[in-house]
Amino acid sequence: MSFTHAILVTGGAGFIGSHVIRRLVNTYPNYKIVNFDLLTYAGNLDNLTDIQDQANYSFEKGDINDMVLVKSILHKYKINGIIHLAAESHVDRSIEDPLSFVRTNVLGTASLLEAFRSYRKETGIDGKFYHVSTDEVYGELGDTGFFTETTPYSPRSPYSASKASSDHFVRAYHETYGMPIVLSNCSNNYGPNQFPEKLIPLMINNIRNGKSLPVYGEGANIRDWLYVEDHAAAIDLIYHEGRDGETYNIGGDTELKNIDLVRTLCKVMDEKTGRLLGSAEELIRFVKDRAGHDHRYAIDFSKIKNELGWTPATDFKSGLAKTVDWYLCNDAWVAHVTDGSYLQYYEKQYGDKA
Ligand code: NAD
Ligand code: DAU
Repeated sequence: MSFTHAILVTGGAGFIGSHVIRRLVNTYPNYKIVNFDLLTYAGNLDNLTDIQDQANYSFEKGDINDMVLVKSILHKYKINGIIHLAAESHVDRSIEDPLSFVRTNVLGTASLLEAFRSYRKETGIDGKFYHVSTDEVYGELGDTGFFTETTPYSPRSPYSASKASSDHFVRAYHETYGMPIVLSNCSNNYGPNQFPEKLIPLMINNIRNGKSLPVYGEGANIRDWLYVEDHAAAIDLIYHEGRDGETYNIGGDTELKNIDLVRTLCKVMDEKTGRLLGSAEELIRFVKDRAGHDHRYAIDFSKIKNELGWTPATDFKSGLAKTVDWYLCNDAWVAHVTDGSYLQYYEKQYGDKA
């Protein structure tokens, strides 16, 4: 079968990437969707079992730092565009091991850009590079205000510094080499298939196992939450209709204090698992704060709303209910990802805290 368009999605075996791949494979049967992923601890092909046999999907294992391999795959599939999600994505891990974030997020993105630049030159294919980034590049907010696309960069963790650097490289390739690019900077995602190192799945897993719920500091930090399928929808739209060289902020319009979110989650878990109301809340423990913990993120997403007509479709209540149901129904997935290396990470991160 011949395809009208081919997209290389990096990091497609991870949390957001797997939702992006599923959406693209199912929406565009005439496109070839190639998932390029190193399968680190965060990458899991079990996330894609429902679409893995479709003719318009292929998986290639590899490192974005491996330019020779990346170039050979670009040629093999005659790739027209890249959607780049591969990254080290967890702030706490970046505090423990910042250089692995530099290697993957900074050097990896620069290598991918360079491989794509050379491939475009060799083939004459006028392909687009879409870089998926984070609101954390803007730093932290006080109790008021929102991040806009023109908010100055002010990253405060090794993770956000590495993502900010990668954003700068992408823009530099546009300015210097005329590469067509587009970026988006999104707030906190939640939903099925998220690795249980991140707040919501970690808390769900701990409640299930009767383990304490480690809330950093006083739980007063604020995040804006977006259901992952809404992010995938925005990425699809921006890839196709976003203006060349532009950045789009994506947000969920759902600001919550961590402690309020955790208490809500406890109630939902109590209801769904038949525990006595209030029993999961008893597991909450306030633990040592994250170093350099950003106080608040909040997104002004009027640009994508006005230009492209995107708004979040899933309200937090129904998104959280869907998420909890998914984790409760997918014990095997959770068991698979919380193996030895997860337990080691957990002990190191929380052993002396919770
Ligand atoms: P994730 O950690 O779940 O997945 C990352 C994926 O990248 C994994 O499949 C991993 O195997 C792969 N990967 C890592 N290093 C690689 C390498 N060197 N070569 C090839 N593949 C590699 O991450 P996520 O939460 O799905 O985030 C995806 C992207 O979206 C990241 O760029 C992240 O910065 C960004 N983002 C995430 C959120 C969020 O709330 N999770 C919000 C905004 C932006
Ligand atoms: O804003 C977008 C970013 O959101 C993405 O770029 C990152 O990839 C993603 O990991 C996420 O970063 P956060 O640091 O906000 O997410 P995390 O789930 O780690 O933490 C959410 C909040 O909950 C944060 O204020 C820290 C707090 N927290 C987290 C964990 C894991 C706790 O209180 N206890 C915990 O055990």
